[in-house]
Amino acid sequence: MSFTLAHLSDPHLAPLPEPAWRELMNKRATGYFNWLRRRRFIHDASVLETIVADLEAQAPDHIAVTGDIANIALSAEFTRGRGWLESLGNPRDVSFVPGNHDIYVPEAAAFAARQWGAQMTDDEGVAGFPYVRRRGPLALIGLSSGVPTAPFLATGWLGTQQLAGLAEILVKLAREDVFRVVLIHHPPVTLAARHKRLLDATVLKRVIATHGADLLIHGHDHRHMLNWLDGPRGSKVPAVGVPSASARPGTSKDAAAYNLYRIGGVPRAWTCEMISRGIGANGEVTEIGRMMLTP
Ligand SMILES: [Fe+2]
Repeated sequence: MSFTLAHLSDPHLAPLPEPAWRELMNKRATGYFNWLRRRRFIHDASVLETIVADLEAQAPDHIAVTGDIANIALSAEFTRGRGWLESLGNPRDVSFVPGNHDIYVPEAAAFAARQWGAQMTDDEGVAGFPYVRRRGPLALIGLSSGVPTAPFLATGWLGTQQLAGLAEILVKLAREDVFRVVLIHHPPVTLAARHKRLLDATVLKRVIATHGADLLIHGHDHRHMLNWLDGPRGSKVPAVGVPSASARPGTSKDAAAYNLYRIGGVPRAWTCEMISRGIGANGEVTEIGRMMLTP
């Protein structure tokens, strides 16, 4: 038995739709300026298209997207984002958790729920976080760390309720023979500046250390990242981040890439191999790394 999970993140769909002036009367104004000055030179629709085509050729069993479809959360970015999510496959086969650019302003949570709800609901069709979706040997646990913040902040926050929910789910799933994958936008471990961090990362790490998980995947930093979190009884849990799926090669962060996880073995003796595929300067996607995440 082998199950392939693909993970991509931070597509930041480009180009940005033309904002109406009334949409810029808040934090979006600084975000719009930032887009014009810097981000529009990084995120490229054709790069994303190339990455997604390569991913689809690998025929994964499931696709996880860990946030930042949007840039400044204009309402048009949610309708377009819905089309993009649906182009990846049936909502059953695509799981999404929002990032800080999706929940950029307070009204954006409702836009996300309305347009991207099908990829953010549990197996009973119930919306909310954390959600649990069972696919093959996997239990995908979706967290939302995206919260509206003041201008120039990109912090994330899970909150007590969501963290308590996560603990409860991990306890329950530990009694079942499932491979537990946690999806979150912000990394639990990062070298990024404080104004970009998950503010309650310490509590998240404590929950993982107490109750365990098999894999945590994230985006946000737009880089290839691998950190080993403490799990119960001396075990380690890999926390893996991918670059933005639309990042042109040659910018200050890593070029667009995605990861494939091949999960096999048997319950309590799972095997998990990670394969990274990324875009090169020639515009072609090739394998750029491969490693076993299990002993
Ligand atoms: Fe991002």
